Amino acid sequence: MSETRILQVADDEMKEAVSEACALLRAGEIVGIPTETVYGLGADAFNPEAVAKVFAAKERPSFDPLIVHIASRGDLKNVAIVPAEIADTVNKLTAEFWPGPLTLILPKHPDVPDLVTSGLATVAVRQSAHPVFRAMCKELGRPIAAPSANRFGRISPTSASAVMKELEGRIPLIVDAGACSEGVESTIISIEPREGKKPIFRLHRAGPITKEQLQAFGKVEKVREIKADAPQAPGQLASHYAPLTPLTLLEKPSDFQPVEGKKYGLLSYTGDDEGAYVGLHDWEIIESLSPGSGKLAEAAIRLFYVMRLLDEAGLDEIIAEPVSETGLGVAIMDRLRRASFRS
Ligand code: TXA
Ligand code: MG
Repeated sequence: MSETRILQVADDEMKEAVSEACALLRAGEIVGIPTETVYGLGADAFNPEAVAKVFAAKERPSFDPLIVHIASRGDLKNVAIVPAEIADTVNKLTAEFWPGPLTLILPKHPDVPDLVTSGLATVAVRQSAHPVFRAMCKELGRPIAAPSANRFGRISPTSASAVMKELEGRIPLIVDAGACSEGVESTIISIEPREGKKPIFRLHRAGPITKEQLQAFGKVEKVREIKADAPQAPGQLASHYAPLTPLTLLEKPSDFQPVEGKKYGLLSYTGDDEGAYVGLHDWEIIESLSPGSGKLAEAAIRLFYVMRLLDEAGLDEIIAEPVSETGLGVAIMDRLRRASFRS
């Protein structure tokens, strides 16, 4: 593979871009595609050779399974077998949150290649709300397997140019529909039924659909703590979303012990001068997640973009300020902890 092309697409003239990208998918190629969360690296989910290219381009270990994206709720039966005990819950969740950033882990349909699920008996499924992604699933007429379009362990891309930086020369095409509207990857849950009670939702990854939103339908419980040596826990690797520059999540300002001569940049929440973090040091650079206003939704959208900016600023270390761990803040703090994890 040599050249990677960017194909710009505006909402009102989507058709041609969609057919061009789908032609590549049909030919067993892989394509960078926008979703509402982050850019995905898509392949025809039913074509194992195409799926293998996704793992190769990302340098992703084969034990880390992919998410399968479907065109409509009705297509769920083609990729998963929903057990009767949770059928009602699945119906309610998908009616409420699909299309959108909620991924469900369900028993896999035998047609889904083992490579997609890394040999697991379960498959992760969602319906993306992005108009381009939806149109591609529909036109292809088959589900699209797509992880985030970054090299393994690195920062997820929220723009076509970020995908280019991650995968240039490794994929033929990136469909560019501008910045992603959510900014962090989908919430992932599995469902455990309970006799006479609401089910338990195991939260495999915090994301845009918050615990508070899910609680109307079930009891949300964490899957497991972050552990360095738990590759059997797919995708929950302690170190992930990591910039090349070391990043430290500074839980409290008093923990900061700068080393003389080292260049530090601050990943601030609001960038407010009055804040305990901004005034802590003579930072080389300060980048804010939600400049001025301190809104978690804006912070989520900007998180990976700002991490990239700081990573490219020639610093010795990035210091990240925590955000409040409620609502979307849970997903943001999850990404910051993994980005800062050093074994
Ligand atoms: O928002 C998103 O989910 C984006 C867009 C492209 O849809 N995709 C994404 O994919 O974040 P990826 O591959 O970067 O993350 C998928 C996560 C991984 O942590 C993987 O381990 C987990 O989903 N996963 C996939 N199948 C699973 C399964 N059967 N059981 C448990 N975890 C699973
Ligand atoms: Mg990823």
